[in-house]
Amino acid sequence: MASQDDYKQLIDATDIVSLVSSYGIKLEKQGKNYKGLCPFHHEDTPSFIVSPDKKLAHCFGCGGGGDPIKFIMQKENIPFPEALRRLADFNGMEIKTNYKPKEDPNKKYYDIMNMAISFYKANYEKTTSGKEARQYLLDRGLNDEIINDFNIGLSPKSSDSLFKLLKDSGFLELDIFDVGLINIDEKSSHDFFVNRIMFPIYNENGNPIGFSARMFNSTDPNQPKYVNSRETILYHKGNVLFNIQKAKGEILKKKRVILHEGQMDVIASYRSGLQEAICTMGTALSLDQARLLLKYTNNAIICYDGDNAGIKASKKAIKIFEQAGFNVRLVLLPDGMDPDEYVKKYGEKAYLDYFESHVIDSLEYLYLTTLKNKNLDDNIVFKEVCEEIYNLLLNVNNQAIKEAYLKRLSDDTKTTLEAIRMDYDNFRMSKASSANTPLYPDDYYIEEVPEEPKPIITETWNSVAELRLFLYAKQSKANAIYIDGTLGESIYGFKPRTTSLWIKLINEYYTNFDKFEEAKFIKMLTDQSDMDYYILMMNKVREDTISAYNQEDMQSCIEKIKLDYYDAKNDDLKRKISSKNISNEKSFEYANEAFQNRKRKLELSKKRGK
Ligand code: CTP
Ligand code: MN
Repeated sequence: MASQDDYKQLIDATDIVSLVSSYGIKLEKQGKNYKGLCPFHHEDTPSFIVSPDKKLAHCFGCGGGGDPIKFIMQKENIPFPEALRRLADFNGMEIKTNYKPKEDPNKKYYDIMNMAISFYKANYEKTTSGKEARQYLLDRGLNDEIINDFNIGLSPKSSDSLFKLLKDSGFLELDIFDVGLINIDEKSSHDFFVNRIMFPIYNENGNPIGFSARMFNSTDPNQPKYVNSRETILYHKGNVLFNIQKAKGEILKKKRVILHEGQMDVIASYRSGLQEAICTMGTALSLDQARLLLKYTNNAIICYDGDNAGIKASKKAIKIFEQAGFNVRLVLLPDGMDPDEYVKKYGEKAYLDYFESHVIDSLEYLYLTTLKNKNLDDNIVFKEVCEEIYNLLLNVNNQAIKEAYLKRLSDDTKTTLEAIRMDYDNFRMSKASSANTPLYPDDYYIEEVPEEPKPIITETWNSVAELRLFLYAKQSKANAIYIDGTLGESIYGFKPRTTSLWIKLINEYYTNFDKFEEAKFIKMLTDQSDMDYYILMMNKVREDTISAYNQEDMQSCIEKIKLDYYDAKNDDLKRKISSKNISNEKSFEYANEAFQNRKRKLELSKKRGK
């Protein structure tokens, strides 16, 4: 199976409305299309559109779905060939495929992690240190049931017991290293976690990916309180959400997610009946994490520590959540406490009551924390506080709400509303005349939040050129080699994933085969995300409006990519030059490089003009 023709036939034969409906998704007709609630993310108003003409089932909210194959892949969480087979079954068609469903490539790693979890649990249950650890946890208000619910364990004092066990069980040293459970030095290997209370961390499917390990009986001031898994094949701290595997059901049910700062806070909430709580692992919330949560809900409640650091971090998290499209609310705990401390001091019931009766929206939170502990008798502080509030209000597009906050500010600062209004109007005018109004008050930008890569599905395809080049390369090996040779390093002007596919095509595929065959190429895409991306690309190709592919078009695509490449390179250099702590020398070096790039680009454009 899987020549382009077969693929097209299979898609064309699909009644996409009944395919989608067969998954229990209710659709309503709207003109030529159908509309329903998106099965890929939580929503209250439908943005999932099914087009029988275009054979597409796509969500305009989250970007999920696509053609029938893509839809099935995402719905069933299965790879391309498997989805092909399902679709063929659905259509009652025969396909030739030698595909056998393959095992999760991470299975061996999960096996290692699961064995480690059991080992740490057994060590916790059976040793004297384990009793000490248990006492520590009980003192912190946990009980045996909770300890068991979270699979909490203890890493032993000796630094090679886990390694020995895993090795004797037949796991390879390098695999054990890859999941971050040992360090390897010249002489020997050592357990990574020693004498700490072990909190296993799982991904959303419930597979174990790492640990957070807390010190409990050490008095060594040089020891960090927590040691978390390093970046590994399974553990990427920017995506990890502690407790997501358990919380996801409750998040769906309660239609909200609670974000805390640490796992002891998550456990405190869990004990108190807030089982929709999760936390990041010692990192600020990332856009990736917010997007992951968006699958379950678009209502977030941030409840960080009530101290200044917690407030700062909350402001960052508000920004990330809002950027991802969440309704953001917060709970500010009194006296700088964190949830764990609050529960310890006042009990679970009091915490739950406090939490539920103190949920406020992000504007209210920003208003309150801006005024908190400020000496308004100091004129400089007074002015700063007012301007911060004005800045907040600039982005509110509801006049009544604005009015209400101006009124409150006048009350809270014991100033006339008239004066506040005048100041606000002046502020607004001065902002309007200066070009770029920051969206949030200044201390919102605590440190630069790096641009996160967007998920490929919602990415706007600004370069048709790279798609076509891929197509030309598929047409013949000669094309592929010509394009690759002419582009040189400019293949890095492709989108990163395209580059990765391109390298596979040239270095792997065409070094082994002379003619392009879809099925063979797809077999090489062992990485699910490569596969997803490839499908996406091929879908895009079908949307391409060009009437004829030819040599001339191919040439101009190559040139387009080259030009883009120099632009991208220079953008990157510009960013580097404008970063704060760059030396003069470096900045000169980058400026020079940028100049050379511009020259090269100019030469290229001239050639192109001829
Ligand atoms: N953290 C970390 N590494 C550290 C300190 C903290 O990864 N050296 C992470 C942990 O996930 C921790 C969270 O950041 O739970 C919040 O840190 P902090 O507020 O200092 O700890 P608490 O959550 O209060 O931890 P505990 O109650 O156990 O003292
Ligand atoms: Mn704490």
